[in-house]
Amino acid sequence: MISRIEKENALNQRAVVIWLTGLSGSGKTTIAEGIERILFSKGYHTQHLDGDNIRNGLNNDLGFSEQDREENIRRVAELSVLFINCGIICINSFISPTAKMRQKAKNIIGSENYIEIFLNASLEVCEERDIKGLYKDAREGKIKNFTGIDSSYEMPVHPDIELNTEDLSVAETVEKCLGLILPRILIIR
Ligand code: ADX
Repeated sequence: MISRIEKENALNQRAVVIWLTGLSGSGKTTIAEGIERILFSKGYHTQHLDGDNIRNGLNNDLGFSEQDREENIRRVAELSVLFINCGIICINSFISPTAKMRQKAKNIIGSENYIEIFLNASLEVCEERDIKGLYKDAREGKIKNFTGIDSSYEMPVHPDIELNTEDLSVAETVEKCLGLILPRILIIR
């Protein structure tokens, strides 16, 4: 059997799971893509798992009840373990609205492999941005159980880093994330 360490050494990187949590519209996908782009340019090997792409395929049997969200996050955490065991850096952008869900993901992934990034933007600002028009639909009752409207979001109490995307630009947010990530993935020979 080829070990994770051997695979990491071959790829010249340590694998971690970068877990971005926050409201819809807080910037998770944008920041994950920004992180991935810079890591790629530095020669790192990554995989981005996102609420939208995972829910179109692997998790297309799941909705947005608390139970379905828990299952969504559980499967993503298990999938992330497969990636890090291959030496791949996994960047996950999921609302993951409750402390219980995030703790479960952390337990599955292992705390030593897990970096939690909380993108904090107020509901007012996320709703104002309304990039996908979903907040409007939720307010009109066309979408039920929408996070922040009729389904709750519990703010992380001890994330590895909390960044306010109302005040910071995309570039600044990505840079701060990388400050945390780069020392964790670097192999010192
Ligand atoms: S999670 O709560 O289970 O972590 P996830 O991040 O996978 O959610 O999916 C969130 C995405 O699904 C949002 O960005 C949005 O595009 C879409 N979506 C559709 N319905 C809902 C809803 N009721 N609540 C939140 N997001 C929804």
